[in-house]
Amino acid sequence: MIPIAKPLIGENEKQLVNEVLNSGMLAQGSKVKLLEEKFASLCNVKYAVAVNSGTAAIHAALNACGVGLGDEVITTPFTFIATASPILMLGAIPVFVDIDENTFNIDPKKIEEKITEKTKVIMPVSLFGQPYDYKPIKEIADKHNLKIVEDACQSVNASFDGIKSGALGDISAFSLYATKNMTCGEGGMVTTNNADYADNLKKFRHHGQSEEARYNYHSLGYNYRMSDLHAAIALAQIGRIEEFTEKRIENAKMFTEKLKNIKEITTPYVVPNVKHVFHQYTIKTDHRDKIIEAFKKKGIGFGIFYPKPLHLFPLFSKFRYKERDFPVAEKIANQVLSLPVHPGVSKENIDEIVSTIEEVFKC
Ligand SMILES: Cc1ncc(COP(=O)(O)O)c(C=O)c1O
Repeated sequence: MIPIAKPLIGENEKQLVNEVLNSGMLAQGSKVKLLEEKFASLCNVKYAVAVNSGTAAIHAALNACGVGLGDEVITTPFTFIATASPILMLGAIPVFVDIDENTFNIDPKKIEEKITEKTKVIMPVSLFGQPYDYKPIKEIADKHNLKIVEDACQSVNASFDGIKSGALGDISAFSLYATKNMTCGEGGMVTTNNADYADNLKKFRHHGQSEEARYNYHSLGYNYRMSDLHAAIALAQIGRIEEFTEKRIENAKMFTEKLKNIKEITTPYVVPNVKHVFHQYTIKTDHRDKIIEAFKKKGIGFGIFYPKPLHLFPLFSKFRYKERDFPVAEKIANQVLSLPVHPGVSKENIDEIVSTIEEVFKC
């Protein structure tokens, strides 16, 4: 069996968790603080605020930008639900914009026509580990006085023009879920260079209290804190992030080289000057079902991220989206297939996956 995802947990993770268990201090404490420092330094930003999921990170980031009732947030429909659900949690309106068919990320050319006086934030997703096209989006945001929240849940350690995912917009939100490029089981992180946002994020995760003065509730907040147990795992993982990233990139390169002559398949496009960290290695093909059938027979894991764009789900029906609103996202959703690319995938695994695909297109 070659799984589509596999967390790599070593002795260091176990040792650090034991340290926390033995300390008797399990909740947010010194391990979270150290993790925040290391994460901020990884992203080259001033502040990183740990929370307990990527969903919480997005919720907190949008809240810090002042998103509230009736505000509009521009984002992509080709993503996981948790990009858009925090918009709804704040009583705001998700305004979808179609994607670029090569990068799978929001198409900057289609954003400006969707801006209204209610627009507050543009939220691109750095999908599958490839950072969004930050330059044109920053120009648009500056022109219309909007904030940029990056959904960086899949792009830890990625960069564009040498700028890290996490530092490309005003605030970025990361996930440390079990399948992510680094993990602590469940967890999240918010990054920013803005001290006011950092302060707001810290209150939001802690019932609206400041860390200095408890039982003094400034604003509506939640229990979005990360525990030191989780931070211990993430601390061990962040120490291996370069190794994990390099292995994913190496595996992706091998796939692209070996699959390049199969005309029924389009391998992932990597934008020049981008460090794509391959949270997913996602091919496009009109023969997805045939490949899946062969994978199932051989015990090869796969993923369809995402089988249907968000605007077509009943959750969004009150916004009156309909089929063909976002033709690129709708087409791509029928073509994408993600192959196992995580650091636990060996060269032999890649050969097996490639030969299985070659076999499909022989007859
Ligand atoms: C693009 C995207 N946004 C948001 C999330 C939500 O993160 P979490 O599952 O940690 O809440 C995820 C991960 O699951 C994701 O991939």
